[in-house]
Amino acid sequence: MKIQATLIAILAFVVVPAEAQSPLDTLTEADIADGERLFRLHCARCHGIDGAGGEGSNLVRAKLKYAPDDESLIEVMGEGIPGTGMPAFWTLDEKQATRVAGYVRTLGRLEAKGFVQSSVSEPTAERGGRRKKLYEVSPTGLVAIQNSLADLRRLTSGLDLEPEKP
Ligand code: HEC
Repeated sequence: MKIQATLIAILAFVVVPAEAQSPLDTLTEADIADGERLFRLHCARCHGIDGAGGEGSNLVRAKLKYAPDDESLIEVMGEGIPGTGMPAFWTLDEKQATRVAGYVRTLGRLEAKGFVQSSVSEPTAERGGRRKKLYEVSPTGLVAIQNSLADLRRLTSGLDLEPEKP
């Protein structure tokens, strides 16, 4: 599970944002990394550390019911979803919510690209009759990870990354 989350994080990092005309267009990689940090802080307890869901819904999906576009995704954070367990986040300003949205969309693109698959298990007595979300890095996703690691190694070969001794 821990390894899984790490692989997902690597994948999230390598999937390049590609949506036209959205408040997320101007986000940099650093912004999205900050979005991931904020997600872990504010959202993970309900949506899972990897976004695959728990008390809150699975966000590793190409399409979200309450957030068909990026504006509404940001709005969901500002206003919550009335009548559900999804709270409004007064503590996130617009800039931060935009960063979190950037991260959430990155998760969604993983499924859109077929890098991860999520499914739901049969309910078990062990879990009090609740179903368990299963979340798997697909073979395509693994190949993508291998390729990007190979790219990283190529990029960094010959670089001396040891800090200089004083
Ligand atoms: C206290 C638990 C809780 C926290 C914390 C929480 N959520 Fe949710 N969220 C929910 C629940 C429950 C739903 C499902 C609403 C429904 O479908 O009935 C939801 C739904 C959503 C949806 C809509 C998903 C869809 O399928 O359309 C988005 C997007 C979302 N949350 C994003 C976030 C983000 C981003 C954060 C952190 C800033 C966050 N949530 C924090 C409980 C939570």
